[in-house]
Amino acid sequence: MLKLNLDLGLRGRSLVTLGDITDGQMLGLVELAIQAKARKRAGEHLDQPLLRGRNLCLVFEKSSTRTRCAAMVAARDEGASAEYLGRNDIHFGRKESVEDSARVLGRMFDGILYRGFAQRTVEVLAERSGVPVWNGLTDEWHPSQILADLQTMKEHFGSLRGLKVVFMGDGRNNVCNSLLEGCAMAGIDVVDCCPPELAPAPQVLALAQRAAARNGSRVSVCHDPASAVVGAHVVYTDVWTSMGEESQFQERVKLLLPYQVNMRLMEQTGNLAKGRVIFLHCLPAFHNNHTEMTAKIGALEVTEDVFEAPFSKVFDEAENRIHTLKAMMLASLAG
Ligand code: CP
Ligand code: NVA
Repeated sequence: MLKLNLDLGLRGRSLVTLGDITDGQMLGLVELAIQAKARKRAGEHLDQPLLRGRNLCLVFEKSSTRTRCAAMVAARDEGASAEYLGRNDIHFGRKESVEDSARVLGRMFDGILYRGFAQRTVEVLAERSGVPVWNGLTDEWHPSQILADLQTMKEHFGSLRGLKVVFMGDGRNNVCNSLLEGCAMAGIDVVDCCPPELAPAPQVLALAQRAAARNGSRVSVCHDPASAVVGAHVVYTDVWTSMGEESQFQERVKLLLPYQVNMRLMEQTGNLAKGRVIFLHCLPAFHNNHTEMTAKIGALEVTEDVFEAPFSKVFDEAENRIHTLKAMMLASLAG
């Protein structure tokens, strides 16, 4: 039987931002996800499911493919049930206050995964439900995504400390915020390369810089893509307009075209020919004209050749959402 290290000091705890946990606990979750992946590959979860009889709910105010499906599969792998509650399914925040819904859900479920708009909503859920609450994306943070990103980097490079990660694009969105913090907590050098109009909030930068100072790494903001990517081991991007910001689409395209991840930019890392750089994207991605929003424009934040290249690890990263969400559930609830 493969060993799982469940004892991370997170039993009964919520995770609404990476800042809720220590650097060691975050790395412990990544390790636990790697262990859970091996355990699933070996089929051992079928013999000894660790969340048998647990009831989880997924309160989702925004759409999702990966987070929703990964959480469902993670829960079922371990014998738990997972109820999906979409925006129009419950009274949440409309006919009933978030505080009241939180207390009701906490009487019925053993854990809640929340995806939505305000960070305050997930905080209220965590404060009032009395059960572990996990953040599955808000306007400000996307911590569970970054655990999967770190797992993917660790699997590819063997270790995290000393890597250089460059985020290109909307340098103040939820994914970028959590990436800055998570990389700094792991001792990774991280560069946020964005137009000045989309620079990270000073408080987010300060949090990440404090974490970097603890771990001997660096966090910086840069507005020039060619110089930002020199020496990068990971080039990371995300959509240019996040959910809820669709009205800014045209303006963002203009602002962010110089920050597109293309083959030339990947070459400018100096690590492409050496096989020492990978491309990551949390997905969904606009890399061709196959979506409604890009039918007339084509690729946006990443070109098709980069997205489909062997050094693109986006589907490993997507799969790892299962293992990292499972690690969060197990650390909070198993045992
Ligand atoms: N990366 C991510 O969170 O994907 P979904 O929006 O599909 O959940
Ligand atoms: N920044 C994106 C991430 C999607 C997973 C959004 O919030 O829409």
